[in-house]
Amino acid sequence: MDKIKQDLMKEVADLIKQGGVVAFTGAGISVESGIPPFRGAKGLWSKYNPEEYAYIETFLRNPEKVWIMLREMYRCFSEAKPNLAHLVLAEFETKGYLEAVITQNIDSLHQKAGSKKVIELHGSGDRLVCLDCKKEYPFIEEYLKLTPYPKCERCNKPLKPAIVFFGEPLPEKALSQAFELVKSCKVLIVIGTSGVVYPAAYLPYEAKRSGAKIIEINPEESAYTNSITDYFFKEKAGEFFKNLSFFYN
Ligand code: OAD
Repeated sequence: MDKIKQDLMKEVADLIKQGGVVAFTGAGISVESGIPPFRGAKGLWSKYNPEEYAYIETFLRNPEKVWIMLREMYRCFSEAKPNLAHLVLAEFETKGYLEAVITQNIDSLHQKAGSKKVIELHGSGDRLVCLDCKKEYPFIEEYLKLTPYPKCERCNKPLKPAIVFFGEPLPEKALSQAFELVKSCKVLIVIGTSGVVYPAAYLPYEAKRSGAKIIEINPEESAYTNSITDYFFKEKAGEFFKNLSFFYN
């Protein structure tokens, strides 16, 4: 690490240690756990056109087809373990620096890493829900073996993961908690999101407007990088947190 980078890392470490930190995460934080992101050459949307697989109307019209993608997604989840970035965020919470993680992810890796306060903006894959009678079922691997798709035991309708499909509203409570958090935080760490899916993508702008410093970690520039980011680390989340650890010991 050169001197300029070292000084920058130290500045950021000192900022985090002052507390009042919130993290806003996207698919990129789980890439090093083996879960592909949505956009880009290796993204889920390059294999499965979201128009055909990710809209609620499509699920309602053809659940069998959408469950082909969902099975693949769940298989990735079941093999994935939290990586250094998830673990360090959980540790920051324990140390009292971090107030919450706001995530767009549905893979539960923040919780598996030990984070307690996790706001899930796009729901979670940890349960399935019947769109008809609203009964919920904790997700178990057995569901992936059911053809053509898992069904509600009460009404025999297709079960859908409790994740937000395009065309569905975000969970109201999670969204309002997220806005409250970013309005009052001193630092927002934005990790691995392209920042193009609204309303979640508003959060960093709201944080900035309310006076927070924006630290961003992403190997590529995002919608935020040249507009609101104060500290940009153009690298993988794992690399950033490995480097940052030198300033905590
Ligand atoms: P994207 O796939 O749009 O963006 C992932 C971001 O992670 C990109 O900016 C990558 O450059 C970055 N990235 C890749 N590898 C990384 C690494 N090792 N460390 C850090 N960053 C890395 O994913 P999201 O922004 O999360 O919504 O997508 C937002 C929403 O779009 C998702 O929640 C999902 C999707 O459609 C719904 O399904 C409702």
